[in-house]
Amino acid sequence: MNAMPPLNLNDVDPDDIGRNPTSGPSFEEIVEARLSRRSLFKAGVGTATSAMLGTMALSACGGGGGGTAAAAAPSTPPTPIQPASINLSFNPVAKSLADMVTVPAGYTASVLYRLGDPIAASVAAYANDGSDAAATYALRAGDHHDGMEYFGLGANNQYDKNAASRGLLCMNHEAITPAFLHPTGQTISGTGLAMARTVAEEVMKEFFVHGVSVIEVNRGANGAWSYKQDSAFNRRVHTLTEMDLAGPAARAPGMVTKFSPTGSRTRGTVNNCAHGYTPWYTYLTCEENWAGYFRRVSVAANPTATPPVIASGDNLVRTAKEIASFNRYGVNGSGRELWATVTPDTADNLYGRWNAEKRGTSADGSDDYRNVANTYGWVVEIDPFNPSSVPKKRTALGRMGHEGAWLGPVVAGQPLVWYMGDDSQNEYIYKYVSDAVWDPADATRGTAAGDKYLDNGKLYAAKFNADGTGTWLELRFGINNITTSYAGYAFADQADVLINARHAADAAGATKMDRPEWAGVNPANGEVYVTLTNNSSRRIDNTDPANPRFYDNTTTSGQVTRGNRNGHVIRMAESAGVAGTSMRWDVYLFGARENTAAAANISKLTASNDFSSPDGLWFSNATPGLLWLQTDDGAYTDVTNCMMMAAVPGRVGDGGAVTVTNTNTAVSPPATATQATFAGAAATNNTLRRFLVGPKECEITGITESPDGKAIFVNIQHPGESTAPNFSTNTFGSYWPYSTDATATADVSVANNRRRPRSATIVITKNDGGKVGV
Ligand code: FEO
Ligand code: CA
Ligand code: CA
Repeated sequence: MNAMPPLNLNDVDPDDIGRNPTSGPSFEEIVEARLSRRSLFKAGVGTATSAMLGTMALSACGGGGGGTAAAAAPSTPPTPIQPASINLSFNPVAKSLADMVTVPAGYTASVLYRLGDPIAASVAAYANDGSDAAATYALRAGDHHDGMEYFGLGANNQYDKNAASRGLLCMNHEAITPAFLHPTGQTISGTGLAMARTVAEEVMKEFFVHGVSVIEVNRGANGAWSYKQDSAFNRRVHTLTEMDLAGPAARAPGMVTKFSPTGSRTRGTVNNCAHGYTPWYTYLTCEENWAGYFRRVSVAANPTATPPVIASGDNLVRTAKEIASFNRYGVNGSGRELWATVTPDTADNLYGRWNAEKRGTSADGSDDYRNVANTYGWVVEIDPFNPSSVPKKRTALGRMGHEGAWLGPVVAGQPLVWYMGDDSQNEYIYKYVSDAVWDPADATRGTAAGDKYLDNGKLYAAKFNADGTGTWLELRFGINNITTSYAGYAFADQADVLINARHAADAAGATKMDRPEWAGVNPANGEVYVTLTNNSSRRIDNTDPANPRFYDNTTTSGQVTRGNRNGHVIRMAESAGVAGTSMRWDVYLFGARENTAAAANISKLTASNDFSSPDGLWFSNATPGLLWLQTDDGAYTDVTNCMMMAAVPGRVGDGGAVTVTNTNTAVSPPATATQATFAGAAATNNTLRRFLVGPKECEITGITESPDGKAIFVNIQHPGESTAPNFSTNTFGSYWPYSTDATATADVSVANNRRRPRSATIVITKNDGGKVGV
């Protein structure tokens, strides 16, 4: 790959960066919490303790180490016991570094939809050598497949929840591996801040391969799945697609751009990571690392650059509030992929709109794109059943690095809830609760129903207390320190709060988490699971019970990294319904190497189920109680490629309390700290089992199922991403999905276009036609 500009984010995991400068709890608070918990353990959780737990509504945490606490009266009805347990029926897959997808014996994985595959009859097959014209990509599969959802498609072309052989598959295309999209990678001139893209055709191609696919998929008479290339439902939504801004922040002063002087519209969506859906059968796509795409040279000076940059930096002409907002979200770079550098710009600023600097002279920003970054960072609603519908960015759900938005229990007469993670180091877990209560008659109203449920509601951020309780802090102007006088950011109104939701959650005092990724709601009991993938910035003196680990992660080659390098999964049980502000929580699972020290391998993982960096997390609906976990890892990749696990979880509190001992061996003598937490039951081969290992240098992300549970769809993202390609020898870090095709891989000539790796969706079925996993 070409050398990238110094401020570019391509060379690091864009999630694995911290933008949260606010201070956590004081050291005294942490020590106090630890001491109180330790004394609890020392007491053996006896009678005196149970009374204490009872007042904290902790009775469900009473299993195992909870002792007699289980007898304490709960303040809310107990969580329903899980239905009859299910059995994982497959033999676990071994860890692997092979360049292939491995699934258990008795299962078949087939490739369904690859980068560049055409989604209209008029579009040619993908050349896969960088030669395809940019314009054709408007009707090709995008890159970096991520979150996705299957919507059953009935014979009447309407949603049918039972349509298990025909559906609309909606999926995100999060980002790109640019090297493989062009003949020999991106064409870039200049150095430093003068680096510029010189081939507009390449950039236009990149505009199209981000975003969302909607494709019709069918199961044939032979049981094999395929996508329908000429379906009228097929659609691409990408960075050029015009969208409405909806909800309280629409038309706010901060949304004004040259494209939309009223602040009511924007163009495109980008870095669509995970997703969600609505009970009216629309798709939610979530904008995660959007900030890096915008160019804003905040303080650097480079007067000789071409194109010229503001010599002293954009910060000189921005307000303190604007700068505080840019800093909190990370809009301070040269622009990932350098899209803003193409010259000449088009009349409608297709390239220049990626520059968030103040270039115009207007007072309100209606003559430039100084506010454009405020039109990204949202949950975007798309109606897959109406290919001409205009996507809507739902601002009531807040602006952040949205991983996804996962729907909670849907009950007539009750509000709707979506749980959301903001994936960056030390960011927060959120929930959105609709003001309107669910009326099943709205299920056929498409985005009009979205106007009702997604534009008016309450946004909350989670605070995890050391005693196993938690609080949802409402992010509303005027309360919880979210006022004009908050020191970190002087809020003006609720639109300002939503555009700057990270600042609002800071003000309210939410708990800084180890990078919240996917969430999932257990259909068996409504409990909410969130993956906390890892956090290299977690330090021994700022662990807390919900993010309790700081430890050494030592690879087999001896490299040592510190922090929470293998991640964990936290879960919550609402104590007062989905609209309530209290909950209980525990840690369901800790990632670790099987052979690591017991202090790190808290969940007692073994060869059949050890993993690192959980990211994708998804509950089956067809098989209630079956949970899938997917990894996006860089800490265990000396031993194995990324993977997918099947799990049968219990419920909050089923493992009792454990004490985590952290050791910092970087100092001498090693510093130790003891951290209390609640942990789920230790994993066993019956409750957690490895189901799939992916090809080289990929991430496993995105999973959905046919309604009968007999097919699951899984995405293989960016195989071969980490190794710099050699286009002279046609040598790449992965050759998947061709890697197991001897004919394709035998020809090493540069003319062989069946060597470049491609992100793709695969379908996994059980050879006996049964449900997957059980
Ligand atoms: Fe796009 Fe946080 O993963
Ligand atoms: Ca992810
Ligand atoms: Ca990730």
